[in-house]
Amino acid sequence: MQLFKLRPTISRFYSFGDFAKEYGLGERDLVITNEFIWAPYMKDLNLKCHFLFQEKYGAGEPSDKMMNAMLDEVKKIQYDRVIAVGGGTVIDCSKVFALAGVDDVVKAFERSIPIKKDKGLVIVPTTCGTGSEVTNISIAEIISKNTKMGLVDDEILADSAVIIPELLTGLPFKFYVYSSIDALIHATESFVSPKANVYTQIFSRSAMSTIIDVFKGIAREGEDYRKKRFEDMLIASNIAGIAFGNAGVGAVHALSYPLGGTYHVPHGESNYQFFTTVFEKYKSKKPKGSIEEAEALLAKDLGCDVKNVYVELDNLLGKLCKKNQLHTYGMKEADIDGFTDTVIRTQQRLLANNYVELTREEIREIYQKLF
Ligand SMILES: [Fe+2]
Repeated sequence: MQLFKLRPTISRFYSFGDFAKEYGLGERDLVITNEFIWAPYMKDLNLKCHFLFQEKYGAGEPSDKMMNAMLDEVKKIQYDRVIAVGGGTVIDCSKVFALAGVDDVVKAFERSIPIKKDKGLVIVPTTCGTGSEVTNISIAEIISKNTKMGLVDDEILADSAVIIPELLTGLPFKFYVYSSIDALIHATESFVSPKANVYTQIFSRSAMSTIIDVFKGIAREGEDYRKKRFEDMLIASNIAGIAFGNAGVGAVHALSYPLGGTYHVPHGESNYQFFTTVFEKYKSKKPKGSIEEAEALLAKDLGCDVKNVYVELDNLLGKLCKKNQLHTYGMKEADIDGFTDTVIRTQQRLLANNYVELTREEIREIYQKLF
């Protein structure tokens, strides 16, 4: 049984210019990014790379329509390396463009073509949450089939993950908070996953402690505190990605997908709604196990008694952004059963990583409680 793997090399640079110089960015490189990232950090460098701005091909979460529209452009370009500079959407799209022989991305997601990487892939995250720079997953809405599909394959792992703290300066506070809460959830869910082990838990622990520490600083000193800790948060997000890339995430992510997909709630914000309630359910079902260690660690980091750990965690996160009842996102009472069925039908890949198995009724109870 494999315990742990780490593929990409990880580098840190102080500026995008330093990275471009060290990696020799040039005309055989395809840079996939957004114009609002290119303008402040890349424009003045006059690089000879091909640039593709993702937002010109569609808004929001990645989809087959967006990726295929980009692909029409990508096919006209001769390139040896894909350089992804962006958040989750840019990164999920870019992973597919490092593969050989893709003429319709749906075939890659369905695996009806061989999944073989033939380009270099360098990923530079500009949010601090997905950890996608170190995971082998790309997720897209397949509009033509009315479903979300994940391509999970080591062929879409990056060769290099690059940390550049200055790239977080343009990230609005709200998105910074949602993405870093997502990273905290990656670390905590992977800590209690049945696939967790001593190697993955080192990474989970480290990410949980750093993220809580930064959140406490923001709660104490205000939004600007985050700027002093951009590098810490980017690295914590990366480390959480390494933990969940190996041990997986479970019910928080699984229950969050129908809400996010149906009512267009950003991934991190949607996950936040389910975080502590799922853990309370875990705890009530199986109080003895790795959850005790996770709670002890969180309580120590939060400076509270372990019996109040979820209340205190919600208090701290609530100082950064508001937690909402699910109906405020447009969810209907009838969705409680619908979402429960959807989770059971489509999210078995994630439910397999639950700390303890949740029944249909227990999943339904979580939706009901949060509704
Ligand atoms: Fe996530």
